[in-house]
Amino acid sequence: MIKAATIADVKKYVRECKKSGKSIGLVPTMGFLHEGHGSLIKRARKENDIVIVSDFVNPTQFGPNEDLEAYPRDFDADCRLCESLGADLIFHPTPEEMYGKSNYSKVHVDKLTAGLCGAVRPVHFDGVCSVVTKLFNISEADRAYFGQKDAQQLAVVSRMVADLNYNIEIIGCPIIREEDGLAKSSRNTYLNEEQRLAAPVLHRALAKAEEQARAGEKDAKKLCAQITEEIEKEPLAKIDYVEAVDWEELQHTDVIEGKTLFAIAVYIGKVRLIDNFITE
Ligand code: PAF
Repeated sequence: MIKAATIADVKKYVRECKKSGKSIGLVPTMGFLHEGHGSLIKRARKENDIVIVSDFVNPTQFGPNEDLEAYPRDFDADCRLCESLGADLIFHPTPEEMYGKSNYSKVHVDKLTAGLCGAVRPVHFDGVCSVVTKLFNISEADRAYFGQKDAQQLAVVSRMVADLNYNIEIIGCPIIREEDGLAKSSRNTYLNEEQRLAAPVLHRALAKAEEQARAGEKDAKKLCAQITEEIEKEPLAKIDYVEAVDWEELQHTDVIEGKTLFAIAVYIGKVRLIDNFITE
């Protein structure tokens, strides 16, 4: 597996791959890889000749009071995982390499970024869309793999690609969970023992609602109220939002009509966790 730190090195490798007609799958990550990322790499491995994993804690998607400095990092462990799953190249640039001395351009997706996490993280999705655009251009990937855990991100990136005619297919992959249901996330490492025991309440609440939705319940407002009630039973949990939105435009809905995203963000202590399900 190649370890590349510069854009030029990745581009050189990509040129060679393209010359021999190889397809490229990109797995964009911020590192500290877990089985959730592993599932994306495995899927990319199956569907492409070449797999590129980017491993970059992108500063532009963190707000001023967020966890940029504290965000966990372990590049050696990331390399071991990527290699064991058959990735061909891991791209691990510095912020200076990615953004140069100055950067005056950004990609903004309207409407879909206004609610849910976008409401409390105002710079987040511009940072995500801009860095993902750079990664798409650098890797010239045919496909890029995103986890459904960050459902708003998946919807926003898919919309950006459709609106701006990017030559890349966005593949959404299922949420990977711990045995007790907690969605795998690099941020789970912030939880202390007591908080970790409380954290599965997110999945517990969603799972009950999902079961009802599958059984034909169409009242999204009622399901959100039930999710809220279940989470409020956990003393360490403080709800940021519990929302039902249509999957196309991420706008609030009280009824399930077509694909509907039930998304939640909950603080367990100071740790903000997100989770969701999408109806068919
Ligand atoms: O989901 C993430 O880890 C990040 O938002 C991404 C897509 C790698 C962009 O920095």
